Amino acid sequence: MGLQTTPKRLSSRFFYDAEGSRLFQEIMHAPEYYLTRSEYEILNTYKEDFLKQFTPDGRPFELVELGAGDGLKTKILLGFFADKNANFAYTPVDISVDALEDLVVDVRQKWPDLRLNPRHDDYFNALQQLSEESDARRVVLFLGSNIGNFTPDAALDFYQQLHDRLQPGDLVLTGFDLQKHPAIIHAAYNDQQGLTRAFNLNLLRRINRELDADFNLSAFDHYEVYNPETGEARSYLVSQKAQTVQIGALDMKVSFEYGEIIHTEISRKFTRAQIENLAQQAGFSLIGWFTDSNGYFADVVFER
Ligand code: AVJ
Repeated sequence: MGLQTTPKRLSSRFFYDAEGSRLFQEIMHAPEYYLTRSEYEILNTYKEDFLKQFTPDGRPFELVELGAGDGLKTKILLGFFADKNANFAYTPVDISVDALEDLVVDVRQKWPDLRLNPRHDDYFNALQQLSEESDARRVVLFLGSNIGNFTPDAALDFYQQLHDRLQPGDLVLTGFDLQKHPAIIHAAYNDQQGLTRAFNLNLLRRINRELDADFNLSAFDHYEVYNPETGEARSYLVSQKAQTVQIGALDMKVSFEYGEIIHTEISRKFTRAQIENLAQQAGFSLIGWFTDSNGYFADVVFER
């Protein structure tokens, strides 16, 4: 656990317990959190273009969605593809059981005939289990700027792994949050309602519950910085006093100085040049670039 390193760290993958998933859903509706609305606009505006790219010749395809969450945006595509009688299956993958179960119930009810193969797993395991034998073209969806949680090295590694697992002609559709006025980005991670703050602090509540710890949530604060030179928004929890926390299940004590931080998340913002570079370095061709009317967000299609 990263509480024994300097600086202290907790991985952002631990955000998504039931409460964290619920808070993230609320964040997606917060007025400052432009990401979800921007991507929603893109998918809705260009759904026909996406279908043409996924199946120019009517060949069946399998939509594999990594980090499906509540699938709010994906349902735009599912609904449109179903209306057009497209021949496809949907494989949502998520690390949150709760989010995945809600999604499955909803999708089954809306489109009872859709071939649905939910997987409760993390991205990398799920990729490893992509079936070898498949005559369907694979279309991997990685929406919502989840890619922003990776360091540049991890992002490249991720696309290289995808490249290894996919067949020539398979596609990857990624949602990238683009660099823009820093104040807009900063506000998205400092919403007025305090949702992002609660989301960040919920990590400590989860450790209290699951690892029998005694973090006092009111002795920690939420702090976010956006650095326009690196394109990184970084989230921290700040200890508001010198304190020692017990983590029972690990038989561990963790001491904090006044003002000491725990780094909890990176949400990286990209330039078009960086995205082109990533595609090229991992061996993909960039075949589609779709942005919202503000130019805040891009949904980008890579071909293997
Ligand atoms: C789900 C990783 C895309 O980084 O913007 C929202 C998570 N963190 N507010 C993001 C998040 C703080 C979100 N992603």
